[in-house]
Amino acid sequence: MTGVRPDGIDYRRIPRHVACVMDGNGRWATNRGLARTEGHRAGEEALFDAACGALELGISYFTVYAFSTENWRRPHEEVRFLLDVIADQLLTRRRDDLHRMGVRIQFIGRRDWRVPRWVVRRMDEAAALTAPNREMTLTVAFNYGGRAEIVDAVKAIVEEGIPARRIDDRTVRRHLYQPELPDPDLVIRTSGEFRVSNFLLWELAYSELVFTDVLWPDFRRSHLADAVREYQSRDRRYGNAGSRRDAIP
Ligand code: FPP
Repeated sequence: MTGVRPDGIDYRRIPRHVACVMDGNGRWATNRGLARTEGHRAGEEALFDAACGALELGISYFTVYAFSTENWRRPHEEVRFLLDVIADQLLTRRRDDLHRMGVRIQFIGRRDWRVPRWVVRRMDEAAALTAPNREMTLTVAFNYGGRAEIVDAVKAIVEEGIPARRIDDRTVRRHLYQPELPDPDLVIRTSGEFRVSNFLLWELAYSELVFTDVLWPDFRRSHLADAVREYQSRDRRYGNAGSRRDAIP
């Protein structure tokens, strides 16, 4: 019994948490002579397919970078379109499909004045509806920045008056947006860019990074499976000399 199925995946070593930087929507649309917004629409389809694939593989936590703290700088129409796709498609139409599949939806990111009330309402409704689900947790990073998350954690620690001598890694972790979210084992970035772009800066300290040239709207569950195979070929050492595959530090 090897646990490796004909698809080449070892189902005993599925990454517990996979996170994606969904990049390349704009280029995908431009390559087709379409408006950039069409790339985001197609990107939402890709996200749903990838989430279904994550569920099939038995991934417990799937996290996607939907909207960064920097994305507000895009043209107003594009921001508005992205908010509509996230709130109307993902958090309304898909929400019910995801709920039926047993997926819990949660969010990381700042809830500041820039996030419209109607979007906050949809986020809260989706989170409340799906809260009891246990098949998989889909975490949507919205108005998210990795540095902002660390700054917000530091502020909360100071506000709680925790003395410096009592602050360690665990203190910071407890003050992140979703303290229960385990660190990602695997982070995937699409579209041939080799950057982290302010995503999960604290959490990805020991993550395996997989980069693919596929533009996000073309990303499907088969690409997710490819990334898992690549992850399984890596030797995770967490700073140790010897092999300690998949051990969580
Ligand atoms: C990057 O593409 C992607 C985004 C700015 C956000 C990702 C958004 C989606 C996948 C749309 C749907 C999202 C949800 C959560 C329903 P880009 O515009 O930066 O592409 P480019 O680098 O080719 O210009």
